[in-house]
Amino acid sequence: MSRWSKIAVVGAGAIGGSLAQRLAESDLADELVIVDIVEGLPQGKALDIEESAPIINFTTRVRGSTQLEDVSGANLVVLTAGFARKPGMSRSDLLGKNAGIIRAHAEAIKKYAPKSIVLVVTNPVDVMAHLVKQVTEFPRERVIAESGTLDSARFRLFVARELNVSPSDVVAFVLGTHGDTMVPIISRCSVRGVPLAELLPKDKIDSIVQRTKNGGAEIVNLLKSGSAYYAPSAAQLEMATAIARNEHRLLSASVELNGEYGEKGIFLSVPVILGAEGLVKVVETPLSPEEQHLLSVSAKAVREDVNLLATLP
Ligand code: 2OP
Repeated sequence: MSRWSKIAVVGAGAIGGSLAQRLAESDLADELVIVDIVEGLPQGKALDIEESAPIINFTTRVRGSTQLEDVSGANLVVLTAGFARKPGMSRSDLLGKNAGIIRAHAEAIKKYAPKSIVLVVTNPVDVMAHLVKQVTEFPRERVIAESGTLDSARFRLFVARELNVSPSDVVAFVLGTHGDTMVPIISRCSVRGVPLAELLPKDKIDSIVQRTKNGGAEIVNLLKSGSAYYAPSAAQLEMATAIARNEHRLLSASVELNGEYGEKGIFLSVPVILGAEGLVKVVETPLSPEEQHLLSVSAKAVREDVNLLATLP
């Protein structure tokens, strides 16, 4: 199978490390570079992952670096650098702390990997993706943010456990921003075509919606010293694989909207097709009037954070 020459994971924290392991084990590229400013951390994680190659059976070469220029030549750059939440914080609380980091990294990506596709993970993710697109001036096809894939996975799991069915048989989209106003689309949720509304009473669905919205915070409150990384890195792998292998997967992901779903100029998770060029297309599907309204509330929350971003030094 033909594969990419290089993937760069920027940020060797919990998410970056977990994702690097998943990427290496998936053998998506000839080379995987993990970049972080903390001397020894990316090199140590890279070597540790690579030493599992003879057992796990992958051939990707894994390298750690403290130099941002080492993203050079990457087909895909996954941006995970930045601070994670602590208990009591919202993702938006990270905006001021992470904007400077992301701006510097986006400048480096523009300079050293001008043809790359960028997958943004750092929170608040929809706003950080906006910043990356602004700084790199990449076309919208090449700046994509994770969130809908992760939020949908959480929703699908909670539905599966409630119904005692296989998690992969639950089809669902969570749209909107990666925050309290995210919108699980009940009208399109099914267990392989059987509508959720026929399988669960409204109060059960409502509590699953609530748990999904609180999904990231539930983990933060349990871990106390950091946020989730296993499910996030699985969601990032799903997106990276769709792009690297040109799978044309229909997933929920955050992209800059250009009039779709009535929104323009902001990043929001919507149904998209992902393939070799990154965003292949935004898929517009009618939502119920209530869902459309909730999506506009979610868009408003992103817009407020984007306006806040503009006021930062
Ligand atoms: C989460 O929802 C890290 O934002 C991420 O867990």
